[in-house]
Amino acid sequence: MQTVKSIIENLKMLTHPEGGYFAEHYRSSESFSPAGFDGQRSYATSIYFLLEKGQFSALHKIKSDEIWHFYLGDPLEIIEIEPNGNLIKTKLGQNITNGEVLSYVVKAGNWFGSRPLEGSDFSLVGCTVSPGFDFSDFEMPSKAYFQNIFPQHKNLLEEMCR
Ligand code: GUN
Repeated sequence: MQTVKSIIENLKMLTHPEGGYFAEHYRSSESFSPAGFDGQRSYATSIYFLLEKGQFSALHKIKSDEIWHFYLGDPLEIIEIEPNGNLIKTKLGQNITNGEVLSYVVKAGNWFGSRPLEGSDFSLVGCTVSPGFDFSDFEMPSKAYFQNIFPQHKNLLEEMCR
């Protein structure tokens, strides 16, 4: 049986500042200078990302669209807040006849986080971005910041920020 521990060890995953574990398994060898970014970026990067029961990925944003893929385990919920405050909840999982999706795109600039759905043990997913990931494009403000700009989401912010 594949346990969370064995997956983390096998994929050589590290803890992510947003929560959970990640391992970058692809970074294009070529890079470019995309408009709107400060300097050079790889054309594309891709990570494995794992959340276990009780963990969550805190609300953050990046400058690239991020393509999510479901790989292993139980369904996960992606929470997005658009810049205008609109809330979007998406279930990433295998049960496509019951409202889950195998793949999903989080638009660049949306605030987003994720967590295993109620009853889930763990979720292993993939996150692919182009231009490639760089921590200087990553913003993860405090709960106080979010409470100020999105007071209408008070309860959610209690759960999804650090
Ligand atoms: N590499 C390190 N962290 C991340 C992340 O949050 N998303 C993506 N796509 N790549 C990363």
